[in-house]
Amino acid sequence: MQTSETGPAVVSVTALELLPGRETEFLGFAGRLQALIQQKGYGTDQLLRDGTDANRYYDIRVWKNAETAARAESDPEVLALWSRISGRLKTSPIVDLAWAVEVGLATAGPWQERRALRDRRRGPGERRLRDVGRSEGERRMSIDRRMGPRRREEENASLVMAARIVRERAHTPFSRFKVGAALETADGRIVTGCSVENATYGLTICAERVAVFKAISEGHRSFKRIAVVADSDQPTPPCGACRQILWEFAGNVEVILADLREIRGRYWLKTLLPLPFDAGFLR
Ligand code: THU
Repeated sequence: MQTSETGPAVVSVTALELLPGRETEFLGFAGRLQALIQQKGYGTDQLLRDGTDANRYYDIRVWKNAETAARAESDPEVLALWSRISGRLKTSPIVDLAWAVEVGLATAGPWQERRALRDRRRGPGERRLRDVGRSEGERRMSIDRRMGPRRREEENASLVMAARIVRERAHTPFSRFKVGAALETADGRIVTGCSVENATYGLTICAERVAVFKAISEGHRSFKRIAVVADSDQPTPPCGACRQILWEFAGNVEVILADLREIRGRYWLKTLLPLPFDAGFLR
């Protein structure tokens, strides 16, 4: 088949969380996939291992152009190998690809380059996070049910992973307590925030508010849910100030609390902030 050379390259990043003990199999299949994609001229691929979590990898792909990306993603051989890789993953897919590139995930962070065992050449192979057009608020629950638990968990995992990654950027020289948040907009984008502390402690701002304010300043006005990640024994809920800000800007979103390994709780904001004061009282 003739490969079109037109259009800009398409970059995608996927975070992959491995099932413990499956690294050798994973790297074997990933190597085969890389070789296949290289042979077919779809683009290049880099596999990076997370510097702090040995079971987490980032798969960074540069497809030649959008047309090539679409062809690669529907190639039956690629799909077959991807499904074998997926079998070795705890969750997939993990990161909103556009977001990861936007925030420079491909170049930032303590990640070590790691190529697959079987073939040390570069090439891609990944599953793109698909958005499902959904409305926000309480209707979300019924839609979640329609989507089925597996799909819902995958999407939660993407959001939580984004929060985990941005948490690493938290500026916390005083408390050393890092928090990351990832807010999902109604149209499926992820906007992240990390906690940022200040020597005059009261000027510290929480991860959740950073995410909300970033989202507002980027023009987003409608939200579905937020994930909050901290490394604590008890899941870390949003503080009172953040609950108020979330209520005002995002309404009754779902709040997903997670640590570095798993999701620890899911709540409707309404239950975390009963009897809220909001703009309705000022009319
Ligand atoms: N923090 C957050 O970022 N979000 C929360 O929900 C709770 C607290 C941060 C703020 C500060 O940097 C540190 O945690 C300790 O309070």
